[in-house]
Amino acid sequence: MSEQNKQFNLQLLGLTLTGIIGYPIEHTLSPQLHNAAFQALNLNWLYLPFSVKPEAVKEAVFGFKALNFAGFNVTLPHKQAVAELVDALSPEAELAGAVNTVKINEGKLVGYNTDIGGFLASLKEIGLQPAGKTALLIGAGGAGLAVAVALAQAQIKKVVILNRTVKKAENLRRKLSNLAIEALCLADFKEAVDLREEIELVVNATSVGMAANPGLPVPVELITEKQLVYDLIYTPVETELIKLAKSKGCRTLNGLSMLVHQGALAFQIWTEKPAPIETMKKAVGLNASN
Ligand code: ATR
Repeated sequence: MSEQNKQFNLQLLGLTLTGIIGYPIEHTLSPQLHNAAFQALNLNWLYLPFSVKPEAVKEAVFGFKALNFAGFNVTLPHKQAVAELVDALSPEAELAGAVNTVKINEGKLVGYNTDIGGFLASLKEIGLQPAGKTALLIGAGGAGLAVAVALAQAQIKKVVILNRTVKKAENLRRKLSNLAIEALCLADFKEAVDLREEIELVVNATSVGMAANPGLPVPVELITEKQLVYDLIYTPVETELIKLAKSKGCRTLNGLSMLVHQGALAFQIWTEKPAPIETMKKAVGLNASN
């Protein structure tokens, strides 16, 4: 082997590796987000996307360990499966029963859930304090669960939950009650409209509004000017719900905000350095106008 080849391999071996597993994974913005952040801090780190089918999650997770990755992110549909595979869980990951970030330290896998802290950080950034407020949470899947745990941590006064499948909303209500948070499941949007003056925060944690599932997740009359409307979707960045909220004069947050803040927390966990938030925002196109 030539000296040049050897130098090239040594250079590659010097990289610290991270990445993300999901299925599908093609549309993730996390590689852009993290690679821009590594570059900004002059770190010789690399973040790669991996398409991993549910039946291969275990092999993938232990593969990261064998290949000396520093850590990795986990997205749909693997967040719950990975929570069962790691050696230890952070208190948030334990509460949610879901992991979106894993740090590998001397062969030990520690699972975190930075969706929870990321959601709270995005509210904090715009000065919204959930304590003492009533929130409407639409959706009771994995994203809805992370939001519910986050709101409970921030001592929300009351969470009103609506989900197409009522049984899942009921499970979430029970989870919140166990965390000593007042929670209410509604059967339809008519009841939510009756509560609209009390609702100060509306969170869409359903997939309604995504490019593949277009539409409004709530009736038009539910949204009032006083509410902060947070749509966790970022494809498209401006959903029907966000357009409606802006037209009514509401403050809004989109899914890029959550993406950046959960990513910043993961970055800090892996590198033990403060995340370059502005670089990360720019890398995914988050700016004041959206
Ligand atoms: P995630 O982990 O992102 O929350 P998920 O677990 O598949 O993904 O949940 C998707 C959410 O969108 C669920 O709340 C789902 O409602 P169901 O629990 O009834 O499945 C909701 N959702 C998806 N398509 C919907 C639709 N057309 N109308 C209403 N809700 C919908």
